[in-house]
Amino acid sequence: MAKPKVLATRPLFPAAQQILNATCEVDYWTQPERISKEELFRRIQDKEGLVCLLTERVDEELLRAAPKLRIAANVAVGFDNITLPDCTKRGVAATHTPGVLDETTADFAWTLLMAVARRLGEGEQLARSGNWKGWDLDQLVGADVWGKTLGLVGFGRIGRAVARRASGFQMKVVYHDAVRAALDVEKGFRAEFRDLDALLAQADFVSVHVPLLAETRGLFDVAKFARMKPTAFLINTSRGPVVDEAALVHALETKKIAGAALDVYENEPVIHAGLKRPNVVLAPHIASASLETRTKMACMAAQNVVAFLKGERPPNILNPEVLKAR
Ligand code: DGY
Repeated sequence: MAKPKVLATRPLFPAAQQILNATCEVDYWTQPERISKEELFRRIQDKEGLVCLLTERVDEELLRAAPKLRIAANVAVGFDNITLPDCTKRGVAATHTPGVLDETTADFAWTLLMAVARRLGEGEQLARSGNWKGWDLDQLVGADVWGKTLGLVGFGRIGRAVARRASGFQMKVVYHDAVRAALDVEKGFRAEFRDLDALLAQADFVSVHVPLLAETRGLFDVAKFARMKPTAFLINTSRGPVVDEAALVHALETKKIAGAALDVYENEPVIHAGLKRPNVVLAPHIASASLETRTKMACMAAQNVVAFLKGERPPNILNPEVLKAR
């Protein structure tokens, strides 16, 4: 029997290829540059499965070009690049990769937090410049991390993994989430619930861990920054559009906050010119980028595709209602 045809918009990792190749005939996009929309639409025409990245949009336009498509597997936990109602309407299953990247992403939120507090970017630049004149008492003095208050906006798996790490720094943890956690969870993480305004007024470090939804788009606006302490830092490893970048630049320029550390941007890969300042640490959307974790994400996407094409329930399906129609 012919194997089902699948398009993967990246070569993935060998472990994920092995999973896919056992069951599917896979067309891997292997060029160093990204697949163009035209090429994607051309190659998807005869495919039943798609393994895609968060940089590809799976929407009505793509689905129209993919009459045979039955499953789109995102290699990411965030799925704001996928228009779920369009997939569901056309009976296309959509999946994502929850869970496997929580700890790695939490590690990186801490990397950013520490880097911006202790001015690592500036320090590294000075150390490499050849202009460093040696130790000095007030040289690149930053802010202490230990003993401060960490404010988590979003208290899902990643927010909680960030909270867990805070105890080593003897920090107080406050959080805000649309849904308050159970008391035993709060106790376990030593985290106290706050409404968002109270959190912003109290936290020395505000770390964002919400998905991009209609309700969270532009959540950090001028008014929110005005509530933060002038000594506070914003850390964002969630999705860029959760922060209004123009408002953030304004807050930095007017010293409403002390600095920011960002992994994600409103219009990736474009970064607002006003963010390229010494008190902002910039990373290119790499919070989950350890080899172990990215491999697990790719394998998970591959497993979702294979399960679906074998007639099984994909473990990480986002729109299970499409399975009923099978
Ligand atoms: C995701 O998975 O949503 C991240 O942004 C990439 O790891």
